[in-house]
Amino acid sequence: MTISNSYRVIRHEYDVVVVGAGGAGLRATLGMGAAGLRTAYVTKVFPTRSHTVAAQGGIGAALGNMEEDNWRWHMYDTVKGSDWLGDQDAIEFMCREAESAVKELEHLGVPFSRTEDGRIYQRPFGGHTREFGQAPVPRACAAADRTGHAILHTLYQQCLKHKVSFYVEFFVLDLIMDEAGQCRGIVAWCLDDGTIHVFSAKMVVLATGGYGRAFLSCTSAHSCTGDGGGLAMRAGLPTQDMEFVQFHPTGIYPAGCLLTEGCRGEGGYLTNADGERFMERYAPTTKDLASRDVVSRAMTIEINEGRGCGPNKGHIMLHLEHLGADLLHQRLPGISETARVFAGVDVTREPAPVLPTVHYNMGGVPTTIHGEVVSPTEDDPDHIVPGLMAVGEAACVSVHGANRLGTNSLLDLIVFGRAAARRAAEQIDPELPVPSAPEPVVEKIIAAFDKLRHADGTYTVAQLRERLQRTMQAHASVFRNDTSLSEGCAKIRALWKDSQQIALRDRSLIWNSDLMEALEYQNLLANATVTIESAHARHESRGAHAHDDYPERDDKDWMKHTISYLDAEGGVRLTYRPVHLRTLTDDVEVFPPKKRVY
Ligand code: FUM
Repeated sequence: MTISNSYRVIRHEYDVVVVGAGGAGLRATLGMGAAGLRTAYVTKVFPTRSHTVAAQGGIGAALGNMEEDNWRWHMYDTVKGSDWLGDQDAIEFMCREAESAVKELEHLGVPFSRTEDGRIYQRPFGGHTREFGQAPVPRACAAADRTGHAILHTLYQQCLKHKVSFYVEFFVLDLIMDEAGQCRGIVAWCLDDGTIHVFSAKMVVLATGGYGRAFLSCTSAHSCTGDGGGLAMRAGLPTQDMEFVQFHPTGIYPAGCLLTEGCRGEGGYLTNADGERFMERYAPTTKDLASRDVVSRAMTIEINEGRGCGPNKGHIMLHLEHLGADLLHQRLPGISETARVFAGVDVTREPAPVLPTVHYNMGGVPTTIHGEVVSPTEDDPDHIVPGLMAVGEAACVSVHGANRLGTNSLLDLIVFGRAAARRAAEQIDPELPVPSAPEPVVEKIIAAFDKLRHADGTYTVAQLRERLQRTMQAHASVFRNDTSLSEGCAKIRALWKDSQQIALRDRSLIWNSDLMEALEYQNLLANATVTIESAHARHESRGAHAHDDYPERDDKDWMKHTISYLDAEGGVRLTYRPVHLRTLTDDVEVFPPKKRVY
């Protein structure tokens, strides 16, 4: 008698299975469905509740609708924003594809805001400049401050047109990898009826988003638990550049919800307790529109040096009141409501309290520009894992390097979701049968699920998760140092030990949120572990990794991607992989590393 006999197991065959249904997953699904591939997406939340819905300020593309713009300027800004850790060939690809990707969205029906003459409205955003850093340029194509919402709903509706199968409120347990290292499908748990589903597929696409919830305060939805990274690492695959965690400057204080950078794009500004517009001291050219790592560090320094606002001197003020109620109503209606609900502030009259808050993971599962997962070998740093792709925040292409520019996340989702669909359409022959998943691997996955479901230890999921979040918040924050990172690593190791003693109280299979949160916790812990270990190992400061003991960027020793492997006991092995200091075509030259000033 095998363990799967204790469960109702249902089997499926598809050309492609997409895991996750945010912007990247839906854009990939749309392209794969349109290409005639039998495509399923499997998602733990209803597609229009995916975290892309929360993206606010815009999608970056050098359309030049408001002022002259050029994809090469966008590319330069992205390379500089990445602190020269981004791969320049991939960045060229993304910035060149941006115009057609955004216009395609417009034609699919995304309700962008409009200029007087009917073109897509664009606003300035942090780090986006004209003529290679001369002055801010309006490049964020916006649907008021609900751009992600508009894109997600449009893509979902477009997917309905194609023969795509939806598996909604299914939690993916593990990847099915064969002995040759090829991905053969996934095993998932249907939250609604407790059945187990084995999906055999020619290609699996991880589109599961980031892991912001590894931290105590973040702008991410509760569903952002790094499930794709967890799946990849349990399959023995690496993650890349996980030490680079972005803090968005304007999370509302103390709730952490996002107030878009579009606020500053529309003319908002930050002040300290003295009422000073302090960004002028840190970034004389772009000021409040410097890149996010620069603004978050400046805010943290102001607070650390006693110039924070409020009774505890614990936050900074974001001013919008001078913009006037009409503009706020038209361009920033969503954040006006957020500020009212979460801070009790009427932004037409008074400033909103803000604090840098975890927002985005630059690291993820390494991929090519076509979405194929890469697992470097000694001979080949770009070795491709057959049958597996990753797109969006779950992936690391790497276009964001050490620090992502605002608006490049929505762009990444759309450009690389589309690229993955194109590659799958080239590679997959729908006429060929789907090979069946290896049964012993399926059994092992179901056995691990069963073991967790019956776990009867000492610590609840909530206790373990809170310890994890507090550790990451305290030890892998905006500024890091050796002592704090090594304490953080020790605390994470202790958590691995205590996680063996996890206690689940609910053994049922139907809407067992205790069990689902335990599975999510495992993924959070996996992502957090490689994050803090990679950060501890990187002896320099670059982008979002600001290390007090090594305050300078060190291109000689550290211009390289961190590749991290996690074993089943929480042990981490790190290797490194070269940054691509090359372009894709001769239409642009490599931007050589230089000091990053805004
Ligand atoms: O501030 C924002 O609207 C966030 C945008 C982004 O992360 O790209």
